Amino acid sequence: MIRSRNLSHLRWAGALGMLAMLSSSAFVARIAAADDEKPWVAPDAAKQVKNPVPVNPESLAAGAQLYHENCAPCHGDTGKGDGDTGKIIKKKPANFTDEKLMSAETDGSLFWKMGEGRGPMPSWKDELSDKERWQLVIYIRKLTKDAASAPASKDK
Ligand code: HEC
Repeated sequence: MIRSRNLSHLRWAGALGMLAMLSSSAFVARIAAADDEKPWVAPDAAKQVKNPVPVNPESLAAGAQLYHENCAPCHGDTGKGDGDTGKIIKKKPANFTDEKLMSAETDGSLFWKMGEGRGPMPSWKDELSDKERWQLVIYIRKLTKDAASAPASKDK
């Protein structure tokens, strides 16, 4: 009799422990979600880093290929953030044709964000080499320029 009561106490303690765990992980998830809403800012040191890869037809072509293989599904073929996968995820992928957004970003900042990732944006530093990520910075800059110079009729 006494023993079974003790056991039932233990079970309650276990259930309460579970409850505490569940509610604390829900709490953590809420904090993480709130964090995602904040502007994404690279550390100052990362912002200052200059692109060591020269802009030329080779680096542009390499960047274009990497972009279409890895990034276009979310960021879209022309960089508007309207890729098929980009449309179904909760957080909207960055729009590289947004001149205002892009002019606020240094090359070093773009490079750092590609390396780190945030939320649905993957971290690429283990997938792509430094050189490849700099080539992507070069190509993304071209997407911004292309969008600015494209006639409105081409803007589908
Ligand atoms: C699964 C979808 C997805 C893929 C694939 C993806 N991205 Fe992103 N990307 C995002 C989302 C979502 C954001 C916005 C993240 C945020 O602001 O929290 C983002 C943001 C960024 C930013 C930051 C823009 C800014 O100024 O804040 C850069 C740079 C970027 N992505 C580059 C890339 C590159 C390069 C690739 C391919 C190598 C890539 N992304 C692949 C979803 C994706």
